[in-house]
Amino acid sequence: MKPEFALRAQNSSQPMIRIVDGYMQRDPSFLAFAEGNPDLSVLPKEAIAEIAYDLVMNHDDDVLLYSSNGGNDEFKQLIMKRLARVKGVNPDENDCLILVGGQQGLYLCPRLFVNPGDRVLMEAVSYAGMIDTVHDFLGETVGVPIDDDGINIDALEHALKTTERVKYIYLVPNFNNPTGVTLPFEKRKAVYELACKYDTLIVEDDPYGDLRYVGEDVPTIKSLDREGRVIYLGTFSKTIAAGLRVGFMVADPDIIVHATANKASIDSNTPCLNQLICRNYMRDYDFEGNILKMREAYKKKWAAARFGLEKHLPEGWRVLKSEGGMFCFVFGPDGIDEPKFQEACYAAKVGFVPSVAFSANGKPLGGWRMCFTMMPPDLLEEGARRFGEVARNFKG
Ligand SMILES: Cc1ncc(COP(=O)(O)O)c(C=O)c1O
Repeated sequence: MKPEFALRAQNSSQPMIRIVDGYMQRDPSFLAFAEGNPDLSVLPKEAIAEIAYDLVMNHDDDVLLYSSNGGNDEFKQLIMKRLARVKGVNPDENDCLILVGGQQGLYLCPRLFVNPGDRVLMEAVSYAGMIDTVHDFLGETVGVPIDDDGINIDALEHALKTTERVKYIYLVPNFNNPTGVTLPFEKRKAVYELACKYDTLIVEDDPYGDLRYVGEDVPTIKSLDREGRVIYLGTFSKTIAAGLRVGFMVADPDIIVHATANKASIDSNTPCLNQLICRNYMRDYDFEGNILKMREAYKKKWAAARFGLEKHLPEGWRVLKSEGGMFCFVFGPDGIDEPKFQEACYAAKVGFVPSVAFSANGKPLGGWRMCFTMMPPDLLEEGARRFGEVARNFKG
């Protein structure tokens, strides 16, 4: 039979990343910078194996059974202590929910707040993981114009004033995916004040905040929150291992109660073994030290990508300023034909992800994302060179 899929089952932005990666699988001389995976060599493999063995062999009364919907209490305490120390957020124990990756938070937010026809404001180029889930719940994603340092505040206010049924503003303020940009403190304050003025929520998604290579950390929007209107999402995907699928939400207790109940009907609980691997790693191993090692390793790659692009791109193109994370983003000249340029890149054996994969309004915006964590610096430089050459020769 030909199954008739529900509307919510018909979205996905993954194909574009798969298409780009597919070129490299067919031809190893093709350089694809599409998928946003961490570098396997910087992950704490031995520690994870050691902890997992110990947990399964010595504590199986716990890890091999169902566990509480909300997550392990000691793990939550460790997360909260770290948030207080590193992110300026002081949650109470009722403010935290352990998730199956940060992505589960991106799913729960529209599930909790978006009815068909409701709207979510976000940067015009934004993370597909939220765009898709809002669409799954038949909500509308409204792209707000961006400056080179993130969301344009006047445009955000205009959108809040003129858009009905706005449920929340979604932002990735640190080393955004896909733009790599960090929202300055003044803009964070302005976003928070606008959310208060127009009485809406903010979803602050922070998977990359620990991966800073230059410059100073910027306080989180959550640290400004006096009214319980910021939902903060974190993850261990970039700092321990994406494959464990462990993340967390910190929000007002009322939101956590609803999120926990909704999560229970999705998966009962985040796998206990994976939670406790993260807990024990944070508690008993050098979690912070390994983050510093990751930063050292990624910094070289970041520099090769960012400065390689700056060196090779012709006039009229610009590389957005990034100071960390996993991505660089370039904008082409106004009006560039994005699909045609993408074809020219494929012919030159280089693949970045075009902006259409991250476009809140579904239209190409003439930009490209380069993920730099998975390739060595010499290949990043070569990728930047090929991309620059296509840009120099492109007519159209
Ligand atoms: C902006 C952003 N948010 C959330 C996530 C979700 O990550 P995970 O589900 O692995 O925690 C990602 C993953 O790459 C991301 O880039």
